[in-house]
Amino acid sequence: MSDSDFTEAGPELEEDEESQQHHLEEIEIQLLLEGIYLAYGYDFRHYLRSSIHRRVRSRVNLDNLPSITALLDKVLHEPDYFHLLANDFSIKVTEMYRDPHFFRLFRERGVPLLRNKSEIRIWHAGCSTGEEVYSMAILLLEEGLLHRTKLYATDMNEQAIQKAKLGKFPLKRMQSFTKNYLQAGGVKEFSSYYTTDKEYAIFHPELADHIVFAQHNLATDSTFNEFHVILCRNVLIYFDATLQHRVHQLFYESLAEGGILGLGSMESMLAAYKPSYEELAPAERIFRKR
Ligand SMILES: C[S@@+](CC[C@H](N)C(=O)[O-])C[C@H]1O[C@@H](n2cnc3c(N)ncnc32)[C@H](O)[C@@H]1O
Repeated sequence: MSDSDFTEAGPELEEDEESQQHHLEEIEIQLLLEGIYLAYGYDFRHYLRSSIHRRVRSRVNLDNLPSITALLDKVLHEPDYFHLLANDFSIKVTEMYRDPHFFRLFRERGVPLLRNKSEIRIWHAGCSTGEEVYSMAILLLEEGLLHRTKLYATDMNEQAIQKAKLGKFPLKRMQSFTKNYLQAGGVKEFSSYYTTDKEYAIFHPELADHIVFAQHNLATDSTFNEFHVILCRNVLIYFDATLQHRVHQLFYESLAEGGILGLGSMESMLAAYKPSYEELAPAERIFRKR
């Protein structure tokens, strides 16, 4: 045996160790997601792994845990801790009239298709803390359609739903929400839709009278009504192809004939479902069921 057999670990060995480490982390994550599913029925197994890895790593670091397996142990034995982690997995970023162009196009091309309906049902799937559904309620009020509309706002995250029900948003965000509202084709004083206290803009309760808030999980729950419009923006981007397929099938089954599906510019229509829809506004992925 020569001296060279005892040299220090070179870059190749380090790479091997890194990939072994990554392999182990993947196994631990798989066990974590299976454990969550078996213990709590929440199915994160088909979320994009890169984003799950990031969130798990950050939770392990934040709570100074020795490993992901230790995280699984806590999750299984402490339901509150599970809810904390599930909240980490739910990315709640949202705003009123997010991507104003979407709302402008919906107003121009979607609303005319709703005018002849005596009753309109709209589903906001993955509504987060409610900014999107209040935006839609205001738009429909301005178009004279709110009085015959019911909006169903759902999310898997119970905390987000509870917040959404309050119908109040931080005052400091109103300047940018107003800008979005105007870009979306809003025609009134935006401030006429809310009152204020020191910290919050409180939206008129008449808007919420038309909204039903409920917990609903797109990964495990089934359809619960027939809708004329389904909006699901910035949600499917966190899912893998299998789960996206499930959700597209769910939406297809839940849409009335001629119903509108609004996915927003970040999402895409799965090839398998393209023939089932015509494009109403391609840039904002607004479709109409054939
Ligand atoms: C980034 S927000 C999007 C909010 C809003 N649609 C928008 O575009 O501003 C994503 C939301 O999807 C929800 N979500 C993630 N997975 C879900 C699932 N399986 N079922 C229902 N909602 C889910 C999250 O809890 C989060 O509130």
